[in-house]
This record gives sequence, structure tokens and C-alpha cells, in this order.
Amino acid sequence: MFKKLAISAVAALTLSTGAAVAAGGAGKVKDVDFSFEGPFGSFDQNQLQRGLQVYTEVCAACHGLKYVPLRTLSDEGGPHLPEDQMRAYAAQFEVYDEELDEFRTAKPTDHFPESNMETAPDLSLMAKARAGFSGPYGTGLNQLFKGMGGPEYIVSLLEGYTGETKTQAGVTLYENTAFPGGWISMAPALYGEDVEYADGHSNSLKHEAEDVAAFLMWAAEPKMMARKQAGLTGVIFLTVLTVLLYLTNKRIWAPIKGKKTS
Ligand code: HEC
Repeated sequence: MFKKLAISAVAALTLSTGAAVAAGGAGKVKDVDFSFEGPFGSFDQNQLQRGLQVYTEVCAACHGLKYVPLRTLSDEGGPHLPEDQMRAYAAQFEVYDEELDEFRTAKPTDHFPESNMETAPDLSLMAKARAGFSGPYGTGLNQLFKGMGGPEYIVSLLEGYTGETKTQAGVTLYENTAFPGGWISMAPALYGEDVEYADGHSNSLKHEAEDVAAFLMWAAEPKMMARKQAGLTGVIFLTVLTVLLYLTNKRIWAPIKGKKTS
């Protein structure tokens, strides 16, 4: 009887940890202090430009960003590329034009291309589609203090390779400490010093990973700065309104509350 109970308890435990992994509670995810975190945080324009470079020179070989319009690279609050640089960036892509029924040079109004590799997911929304933090015990408290952890997950994924590989059903899998399940079919993409930054910033693995993760966060939520500003304005407005209503309420009740009854 007791033995049976113990076994089912163990089974329940394994089941629940399994479920946590499937829900996106990834493996090991480290916390990164990104400039865009917190109520006053904002994207670091230079970091986004470096991240764009890493994406373009490394990740774009396999991954697409099909929901991101090329013109937004010039948006304020984003990478903020000068207009001519953004146009030149767009012009390197060939897109299929349905009206012309042929390929033509991409224009700023076109989007980034789709993934080149069928098994590589589109990265447009990846930074918001993954949660790096959950717990403790699924309470979500960590998310309250550290954020959802999408970009942290991407950094940890890019840094999380152990060097072990195995072949399963003809596919090479790479051991990764951040990827749920521990084995990913994406080969290590960054090793450090993969790109040469024009601004002379460090191109160690850590910095390249953080830069591209910040860029992908911007791609997934380009209007984050506007959202935070609107939120802040709202809070200030409501605070002022609360004070005014409190004073009004006091004033209205003053004749009655102020009266001595005996
Ligand atoms: C050689 C092709 C290739 C390159 C280059 C590449 N990836 Fe991937 N990536 C893949 C494949 C394939 C998968 C799907 C892996 C899987 O699900 O097992 C993937 C998956 C991912 C995922 C999703 C992981 C998840 O949680 O599902 C992220 C994030 C990612 N890649 C980021 C990047 C970034 C950032 C770069 C550039 C620094 C990059 N990749 C470069 C092939 C590539």
C-alpha cells in the first residue's frame, strides 16, 4: 500500500516537472541586465544596430524575420538607421512580387525575408514567444521581478552549448543547457568574434548574444518605448485625479462631518 503510494507520488512529480518543461519553462536561463528593462528602460540604439549586424551576418543564413518591415529599421526608438543606410540594407534582398509575377529588389516597405531553412523558426516574435523565467513553483514571481525573460532565454540558448552531440533519426542534435529537453537541432551559431563591430564594441560570445537578443526583442515589440511612456502618463494622470477627488470629497462632506452633535 505504502509502496504503491510512493510510486504514484514519484510518477506525479515526474509528470509535473515534465509539464513545466513543455510549457516553456526552459532549462538554465541566466538573468541579463538589459537597457530596456524596468518602467523607465529604453532600447540602446547602438546595441540594436550591432544586433542587426549579428542577425544579418549569422542568423539570417537560416532564420527569417518575415513580420518585420524593413523601413522600421529607421524608426526612432529602434535601431534608427539613417534613411539611406536603411534603403541600402533593403536593396540587398530580392523579393517575389505577386503583381509583377517576378523577383525584384526589395523596397523599404517590404518585410525581411522568411526563413531560408525549413526547420528554422521565424524569429520575428521569438523574444516574446519564449519565457526564460517562471517559478518559483509556477507562481510567476520571478517574471514580476525579472521580466518574462524572452531575450534572456535567447542569450542563454546561444551560450548554452556543452559541445556534446548525438544523432537521432538521422538528425544531429546538440546538447544545450537552456533548450527545454536539453537537445536542439540548431548547431552552435556563435562562438565569439563572429562579426566585426564598426563601433569597436567587444565581440565576445556574451556580447554578440546579448546584442542579437536585444535586437530580437525590438523586432518582437518595436513600440515598447511608446507603450511604457503611455503607461507612465496614465499613472501620473490617475495619481493627480485621485488627489483631486480626495480633496473634493473632503470638501463636500465638510459641513456634515464638521458638525458637533452635542
Ligand atoms: C545553420 C542554421 C541556423 C543558424 C545559422 C541559426 N539557427 Fe537558430 N535555429 C535553427 C534551427 C534548425 C532551429 C530549430 C531547432 C530545434 O527546434 O531543435 C533553430 C532554433 C532557434 C531558436 C528557437 C529555440 C526554441 O526555443 O525553439 C532561436 C531563439 C534561435 N534559433 C536563434 C538563433 C539566433 C539568434 C541565431 C544567430 C545568432 C541563430 N539562431 C542561427 C537553425 C539555425
